[in-house]
Amino acid sequence: MTVLYRGIGELVTNDPSQGDGSALGIIEDGAIVVDGDRIGWIGRRTHAPEADLCADFGGSSVIPGFVDSHAHLVFAGERSAEFAARMSGQPYAAGGIATTVAATRAADDATLTGGVDRLANELIRGGVTTFECKSGYGLTVVDESRSLKVARTFTRETTFLGAHVVPPEFHEHRDSYIDLVSGPMLNACAPLARWIDVFCEKGAFDVDETRAILQAGIAAGLTPRLHAGQLGPGAGIQLAVELEAASVDHCTYASDADIDALSAAADTTVATLLPGAEFSTRARWPDAKRFVDAGATVALATDCNPGTSFTSSMSFCIAVAVRDMNFTPAQALWSATAGGAAALRRDDIGVLSVGRSADFVRLDAPSYIHLAYRPGVPLVRDVVAGGLHLPHQPCQPAHLVPSSNALH
Ligand code: NIG
Ligand code: FE
Repeated sequence: MTVLYRGIGELVTNDPSQGDGSALGIIEDGAIVVDGDRIGWIGRRTHAPEADLCADFGGSSVIPGFVDSHAHLVFAGERSAEFAARMSGQPYAAGGIATTVAATRAADDATLTGGVDRLANELIRGGVTTFECKSGYGLTVVDESRSLKVARTFTRETTFLGAHVVPPEFHEHRDSYIDLVSGPMLNACAPLARWIDVFCEKGAFDVDETRAILQAGIAAGLTPRLHAGQLGPGAGIQLAVELEAASVDHCTYASDADIDALSAAADTTVATLLPGAEFSTRARWPDAKRFVDAGATVALATDCNPGTSFTSSMSFCIAVAVRDMNFTPAQALWSATAGGAAALRRDDIGVLSVGRSADFVRLDAPSYIHLAYRPGVPLVRDVVAGGLHLPHQPCQPAHLVPSSNALH
């Protein structure tokens, strides 16, 4: 079955060989033919071939589906009081993770699955067609592996983050926890994950511990990615490059030498910036221009998690990235789509061209620039992933019943 989508006033392809020849490869008055789950044809509407079905997008902008390459979705509870305390002046510390660990351990599988389902629906409603999902709030063999089992029912991009922090019961025996994470916990989790991640930061794991854990993960067949440079400078970004990690995430405190290393490794290691974390911890903003001008590959992701970035909205992240992190709207959109795909080492998504996955989003706007220009406005209209219109549940109004039937 083929479907022709036409009436696309502005079609962002991320393929520089298309349209205006820019990095976004923008085609004016474009059309897409979807053949099964793939793009069968893409170009100017006037050249479009016939198809079995047809939809008219009425002049809207169409962009590639967002690729969220960094999300922590498996957890229980929430930490709004901690957020309120930060907004009253308290600093963020890695130790807050333990609060969510306690709630996650106490939750049953159905609760964890329900939580991911809710956030996955939010992500899809916001135009995300591929997302990564980390463990990291279980921190026992059983709780990390069940977190990954839950995550796997929603995405193939699962990440083992047993090295999120050292849990309280190991505070007197740090080395034993590192042995556990790189031994029995890794053995249980490696078959359930594609990636291994470590939070390389003061209050979490130092660079030598991070290296040892990631090397054990590599030996178990996982590909590394890192959290580094979020709370202060350190050697984590250089370690990511050394280990040929797929991405190094946060990079808020990247030094000039870090940026040089990332630019030399642009084909291997993506710098992922996470505006939601800076927003929600009231931290300093990284300057995306430094990364882009140096030639580093840059992704934008939500970092959706209950502690430091409880947003699932890529549109929000783009707006903040443009307003406060010195991205141009074009760079921000590229980073939230093709950049995320690069961070997940996926060449089937993030770009709209023949043969790639039919993952795209119709905006209620004439241009992608509106994602930053109209902050906070729900502009995502149709979400197509693998050729299917994803059912995203609109919020249902409360059901009104006669008060004589209501329970008191
Ligand atoms: O990416 N930095 C480490 N992990 C999360 C924070 C997790 C939490 O505070 O619960 C992050 O910001
Ligand atoms: Fe994170």
